[in-house]
Amino acid sequence: LHVIRENDLVLFYDGKRRKYVRTVRVGDRLETDLGYIDMQAAIGKEVGSTVSTSKGVRFYLLKPTLTDLIFTFRRPTQVIYPKDAGLILLEADIRPGMKVVEVGTGSGFLTAILSEYVGPEGRVYTYEYRREFLLAAKRNLSRHGLGSNVEFKLKDATRGIDERDVDVVVIDIADPWNVLRHAWEALKPSGRFASFSPTYNQVEKTCIEASKVGFIMLHTFEVLVRDIISDETRTRPASRMIAHTGFVTVGRKAVPPEES
Ligand SMILES: C[S@@+](CC[C@H](N)C(=O)[O-])C[C@H]1O[C@@H](n2cnc3c(N)ncnc32)[C@H](O)[C@@H]1O
Repeated sequence: LHVIRENDLVLFYDGKRRKYVRTVRVGDRLETDLGYIDMQAAIGKEVGSTVSTSKGVRFYLLKPTLTDLIFTFRRPTQVIYPKDAGLILLEADIRPGMKVVEVGTGSGFLTAILSEYVGPEGRVYTYEYRREFLLAAKRNLSRHGLGSNVEFKLKDATRGIDERDVDVVVIDIADPWNVLRHAWEALKPSGRFASFSPTYNQVEKTCIEASKVGFIMLHTFEVLVRDIISDETRTRPASRMIAHTGFVTVGRKAVPPEES
């Protein structure tokens, strides 16, 4: 049994499309177009139960998932969507306890995901060269109590990556080929890089440079997700889908033959 207390993060959900993530505080109100909810009404209620708005509409009280949380982030940049992040985690083999470098913090979407997956025993070093984005990302994570294992670095990663013995380097910048040599130096042998790019031109330049630098098993893929609407009489694909975000290239660090 999980009972909601003051300062808990709660997802208020109307059972259809409306979702609001809020910290529950006595005296606060959640305003919706279906009426308002006095936050106090949620305190002491069981997760999964409901409260009613001033207009009598019921909202479920749920524990927000990581995806619910990141979609509340302010987004001053393009972000990596869960569909792409999910496969980056598996293809780059990111696990609890690992040391991961991220190049291009942006809004911190992927930073939050990496941070949660490497967990308290792991560490994320995230590079961003624009102060305003770094601060925005930091705020996005800390607002929800995320990122205690993240080191935010105000630095141009094309000038070098400071860490060594890194398990994975994840890159989401316009010119990934300019950091691949640094990524290779930072990684453990057999360590992985994953790079996200919106265009074929970028993928091609990334692959050429990655082989030159000493990465092997290069693999580029695209993730397409089609939602299915299900009801008793007409279960079928949704008419809209995200047609394009970007391509992911992964590779593993090999030691050049003359050194092995
Ligand atoms: C597309 S955004 C990253 C979005 C991020 N993956 C997310 O999910 O929120 C790219 C970011 O990389 C930063 N950037 C570009 N080149 C960089 C470099 N050489 N070193 C550090 N940051 C860089 C940009 O300022 C921008 O904020």
